[in-house]
Amino acid sequence: MLNKLLIGASLIGFMTPVFANTDHAKTLLQNNCIGCHQADIYKRANRKVTSLTGLSTAVENCNTQLATGWFPEDVDAVVQYLNQTYYKFKKQ
Ligand code: HEC
Repeated sequence: MLNKLLIGASLIGFMTPVFANTDHAKTLLQNNCIGCHQADIYKRANRKVTSLTGLSTAVENCNTQLATGWFPEDVDAVVQYLNQTYYKFKKQ
């Protein structure tokens, strides 16, 4: 009984971060990032970001200016989310 519970718990622990990260990133963006630009800035034809590193830098820059107090994991989650959703750079 306890074994099954433990296995169940570790499976959930193993599986949720993927979803949690996307949700987490969306919430972070919603709460901090739509004051100045909406999602269309990530899709504009003349966007500044041209690589995954550049995307990290851009997120980092805006984040630092806002002094959001995000943890590095938060920045990562947002970078991954923006890349998957809009930029589609290959992982380096
Ligand atoms: C105080 C206003 C402001 C807020 C709030 C803001 N940004 Fe920005 N962001 C800008 C401006 C201005 C630019 C365009 C800079 C440029 O064109 O050189 C920009 C550009 C960007 C870009 C690059 C877009 C491109 O050209 O590809 C990304 C990515 C980005 N912001 C992410 C974020 C994230 C993530 C947050 C939340 C932490 C955020 N921004 C919050 C002002 C803001």
